[in-house]
Amino acid sequence: DWTPTTFIEETVEGLQQQLGNDKVVLGLSGGVDSSVAAMLIHKAIGKNLYCIFVNNGLLRKGEFQEVLDQYQHMGLNVRGVDASERFYAALHGLKDPEDKRKAIGRTFIEVFDEEAHRIEGVDWLAQGTIYPDVIESVSVTGPSVTIKSHHNVGGLPDFMKLKVVEPLRSLFKDEVRLVGKTLGLDLTILRRHPFPGPGLGIRILGEITPEKVRILQEVDDLYVRGLKEFGLYDEIWQAGAILLPIQSVGVMGDERTYEAVVALRAVTSVDGMTADWYPLPYEFMREISNQIINRVKGVNRVVYDISSKPPATIEWE
Ligand code: XMP
Repeated sequence: DWTPTTFIEETVEGLQQQLGNDKVVLGLSGGVDSSVAAMLIHKAIGKNLYCIFVNNGLLRKGEFQEVLDQYQHMGLNVRGVDASERFYAALHGLKDPEDKRKAIGRTFIEVFDEEAHRIEGVDWLAQGTIYPDVIESVSVTGPSVTIKSHHNVGGLPDFMKLKVVEPLRSLFKDEVRLVGKTLGLDLTILRRHPFPGPGLGIRILGEITPEKVRILQEVDDLYVRGLKEFGLYDEIWQAGAILLPIQSVGVMGDERTYEAVVALRAVTSVDGMTADWYPLPYEFMREISNQIINRVKGVNRVVYDISSKPPATIEWE
């Protein structure tokens, strides 16, 4: 029978044999998968694991620094790289979701590759790929139709010429969480909702600007904090806010306003392949919409997304 303890023992032993004294580079994302992969490899080879955590400027509010601190606290050999401006420059003028994904993916690979080259004599690239990623990349990207080009599978540019090690390739999400828990992974990372690689970049519909990122980070932060305070966060598989590319008329005092609309999304799901919209309590919706409209300058309207997948997808882009 599968248990996290035996999985850890066997995997660590296998990694030690496979990797020996080789150096390994791994991109941390702040999510469960890459964190657990890093912990396993760190347990096997210690300082020979070099982790890189890139700030693409599209993370949640304050997340880059918080997560970087956590990783350092865990003893990981991690380098934080703030490349926000470079991502914003690459995204400048782009509106199409797939163009934005490609720009973000390409910039990530450029930054990651530059950082990896600073480490002398790296042989391996480690990835936190889990079993559903393998399936999803097959089913979402068929031979002739790409619904959304997820770039976290097979993201190895051939100029890197590194061998790939993926210790979680056979695991489902709940198993990854169990392994993480057994390894002592911090609860804030362990229970964190899935978050897409392109981050807020695909939740700002249309063109991305640093100002829109700031607005959405504020909204998202109030929303996620609220979910935690109301004890709803762990009931939900994934939640986030979307900044819509339209403005609506409102009134504040005796002034007319003409400002942005945000949509809130929360879904339950097992693996992200299908999802149901979550019935947020009215009390919560009342509280959170007031907070958002009163505190976030530039937003005067909040709506709730009541679409399930299929036929909608979880993200709007
Ligand atoms: P959709 O929107 O396709 O999302 O229903 C299913 C799950 O995948 C995440 N997602 C992405 N993850 N890169 C990623 O790493 C992407 O481009 C991407 N697009 C969607 C989404 O957040 C959800 O968990």
